[in-house]
Amino acid sequence: MSTTRREWLKISALSAGALAFGSVDFAQKADAQNNSGNLIKLSGNENPYGFSPKAKQSMLDALTGGNRYANPETVARLEQQIAAREGLKSENVVLGTGSGEVLCMAAIAFGRQEIVAPEPTFPSLMRYAENLGARLKPVALNEKWEHDFGAMAKLTGENTSLVYVCNPNNPTASLSPADALRAFCRETSKRAPVFADEAYLEYTDDYPRNSMVDLVRSGENVIVSRTFSKIYGMAGLRVGYGLARADVAQKLKKFRMTWFNSLSIGAALAAYEDQNFINESRKKNTEVRRAFLSEMDKMNLKYAPSDANFVWLNVGAGLDDLGDRMRTRGIWIGNPRGGWQRVTVGTSDEMQKFVAAFKEIRKV
Ligand SMILES: Cc1ncc(COP(=O)(O)O)c(C=O)c1O
Repeated sequence: MSTTRREWLKISALSAGALAFGSVDFAQKADAQNNSGNLIKLSGNENPYGFSPKAKQSMLDALTGGNRYANPETVARLEQQIAAREGLKSENVVLGTGSGEVLCMAAIAFGRQEIVAPEPTFPSLMRYAENLGARLKPVALNEKWEHDFGAMAKLTGENTSLVYVCNPNNPTASLSPADALRAFCRETSKRAPVFADEAYLEYTDDYPRNSMVDLVRSGENVIVSRTFSKIYGMAGLRVGYGLARADVAQKLKKFRMTWFNSLSIGAALAAYEDQNFINESRKKNTEVRRAFLSEMDKMNLKYAPSDANFVWLNVGAGLDDLGDRMRTRGIWIGNPRGGWQRVTVGTSDEMQKFVAAFKEIRKV
């Protein structure tokens, strides 16, 4: 039996029950949560293992209170918990409807003039700002799939009103070195606010070191964003947050669109306390990603180094309709861009199905 086959089987066996913890059985959760219609969804970088059972209980308990607006005390408690874990104060925490809302707040508050950002990256903040009249200065990632900090620093000029970095970066899943990013943020934030998008941070092995939150603590003009949508498994519930200096946070909050969803805020509070779920999600993701990438190695496919719950694969020319063809085989991914395809890391079973369908398509 090949190593990879053995690895797959081992992971499948683990998924089938051995990794049950608390009241969550990862395999069952995956079955229940994963399907979008009949499709296996590998397009949204979501957590296939659901979310903390404590968050579910919190929502069930809160359901009958749906006639009331979210209690400001619960909102304040979530801000306090986040602040306490990050060594900050509540005044430094900006909650949002997903981190997507925090990205939009930053675009309105700071981004309307000129934004320096890597390319490719998660485009949401830049698209929003462009609609408000901003100019974009994109800087290609370097050959190691890292941010090109030298080029980004050079392009940050008098007119730059915001700099965006994303680590790990979407869609490439690649991690730029923490020390280089920190030095860049420290220097560049003297000239313009730097927005560090850390949506996938908790998937990295050394995430406290990879975070730029220490720069917020030391008073630099850096905005860090995080989300409950990814490793916390609550994408549909829409909670995220920004961390920034008090004066910067104040400016961001002015542009919050609306008050919070009462069920989601309570769920986030419960999920935040359940670090067991987070640790297991990270572990499972790493195992399945490793096995999946060794399959890609066997097929001689190139990919960017991944430190997240997705992979940026070079599927090559002639497969521009890969997404459409996968869909007819029950798997939902987007279509490739320039020969590159982003694939979310699902469960072991889902990735085996992806590999089987992909091999079939490549043979045709
Ligand atoms: C890098 C990055 N930032 C932010 C977001 C926004 O996520 P959410 O609004 O669900 O927090 C996403 C979503 O995929 C993302 O990939």
